[in-house]
Order: sequence, then structure tokens, then C-alpha cells
Amino acid sequence: FPIYAQQAYKNPREANGRIVCANCHLAAKTVELEAPQSILPDQVFETTVKIPYDTSKKQILGSGKKGGLNVGAVLVLPEGFKLAPKDKLSAELKSKIASVYITPYSPTLENILVVGPVAGEKNQEIHFPILAPNPETDKRVHFFKYPLYVGGNRGRGQVYPDGQKTNNNQYLSSVSGKVVNIEINEKTGTKVSVQDTNGNNSEQLIPAGLDLLISKSDIIRVDQPLTADPNVGGFGQTDKEIVLQNPTRIYGYVAFAFVTMLTQVLLVVKKKQFEKVQAAEMNF
Ligand code: HEM
Repeated sequence: FPIYAQQAYKNPREANGRIVCANCHLAAKTVELEAPQSILPDQVFETTVKIPYDTSKKQILGSGKKGGLNVGAVLVLPEGFKLAPKDKLSAELKSKIASVYITPYSPTLENILVVGPVAGEKNQEIHFPILAPNPETDKRVHFFKYPLYVGGNRGRGQVYPDGQKTNNNQYLSSVSGKVVNIEINEKTGTKVSVQDTNGNNSEQLIPAGLDLLISKSDIIRVDQPLTADPNVGGFGQTDKEIVLQNPTRIYGYVAFAFVTMLTQVLLVVKKKQFEKVQAAEMNF
């Protein structure tokens, strides 16, 4: 959950660029980020995070039952950028974000936004309305090309904040030997007893709901999978560049292009006029 990241990490983007959700959501899946190529100061713009997955797939829940997936995302904006206030949103943007609750990562990091968990089926695209800063009023910002980073996740994580594994993991055998007993209990989980070559018995508890790959009397090796991998989700991150454009530069460019075009046209007109004079002179 994003809250796990908010509690454990001051900043969700590590120095090496990795977004911290990946520390507990171990499977990698893709996400996409859509944003305008350039924006103007004080402009409200939309960025969209796409977290696609096969909605027919079910995952294992904490209870051991099967259920749908939820999604969540974290968007790391440049300093000075923040969530656009509601009164500045267009009606279209308002309706797009009605079903999700976007919050800043922390009171000091207003430029980092988090969402989730929200139901995955309806929210494979999460829209963030952003307000661009104005370099004239905010001295930390300049007209510049800035990176946007995003992390998106679908499905449950593999590690709890205390370091314990969740049941959304493949379980491997901790010993080599022969499976002498498998005791299935729908509530407490499955007990697998393995006898090694010295005749010592060891037991391993597998959470309920996982699909076993072994049966009684099988000879297994250490680290051999005892269950299928139940995880159908995964985390992905990507980035994109956005230009905070100075409007006077655009006016300047348009004026320059217009003047260049005008002088070129005048040159051609002058040449035509000169050619006419030349042609007239040749008749005498
Ligand atoms: C569950 C997103 C960081 C551990 C979830 C879910 C989402 C999510 C959407 C619900 C999945 C579902 O119900 O289908 C994120 C995002 C993160 C983040 C976007 C980063 C901003 C972390 C971190 C940890 C973690 C840092 C570990 C310390 C878990 C676990 C679950 C989970 C264990 C399953 C909880 C349960 O159902 O028992 N996360 N997560 N997540 N997340 Fe994260």
C-alpha cells in the first residue's frame, strides 16, 4: 500500500532512481505515463498513469480466498508542481478523477502524489490534474525541461513492512528429502512434513489457498517450489520529460518566423519587379 511507503520512506524515489514500492512488490509489470510535451506557467494539465492487467485474473487474498486486484500509483513531480485545486479543474477533468482520492505523499512533499488502493477493474487509468508553477512567483522553478517519474502497481505485495512474507508468494522447500505427510487445513494452512536421508523430520507451513505442486512420497530438493506462484500482479515505473515553456519565448519565435517570412516574400517581389524592368529594357 502507498501508506506503507509513506510510513517507511521520507522520499519514495531512491537515489538510484528506484521507486520504493518495488521493495515489497517484487514482480515487474509495465506502466505507462501520458503527459503533455510542454506546458505554460500556472497551467492546469492532466497526466495519466496506465496500469494495465488482465482483469479476468484473480489473486490470493490475505484470507487465502481468491479475489480481484486493486491498483495504486505514485507520481513524483518536479519541485513546485502540485495537485491542481478543485476550483481550477474543467468539468471533464473533475468527472475523470471523481472515483479516486489523490493525496500528497507527505505535508512537506506536495509535489509527490499518491493514489490507492482503488479497485483495479475501473481504474486501469489514473488521472492526475496538476498545476504548473510560475517561475515569476516561485523562485525555485525555472523555464526548463523537467522529468516526471511514476510508479504503478496492481495486486498485493510480497513483503509486509515488518519483513514477513505475505501469502502472495511462491513457497520453496527449506530442506531436501522425501515428503512423508501433507496435512491440509483450510484455515491454518498446509503442513508439509519432509524426512531427510538421516531420518530427521522437518515441517513447513504453507498458507491456505496456495496450489501445491508436490504430493506425498515425492523426493524433493532444497529450494524446489512446493507451490505454484500465486502472484498475478506487479509493479512498474517509468518517466517522461515535460517542458515548462516561457510564453514570451513563443511570442518571440512567432514574431521572428513572421518577420523572416515577410522579408523573404518582399525579396521575391523585388526580384520579380527587377526582372520586369530588365525585360522592358531589352525591348528597346
Ligand atoms: C498491497 C500499492 C508500497 C507492501 C498494495 C495494494 C496496492 C499497493 C494498490 C493493494 C493490492 C490489492 O489489494 O490488489 C503500492 C504502491 C506503493 C506500495 C503504489 C508505493 C508507493 C509498498 C511497500 C510495501 C508494500 C513499501 C512494504 C513495506 C504491500 C503488501 C500488500 C500491498 C504486503 C498486501 C497487503 C495485504 O493485502 O495483506 N500495495 N504499494 N507496498 N502492499 Fe503495497
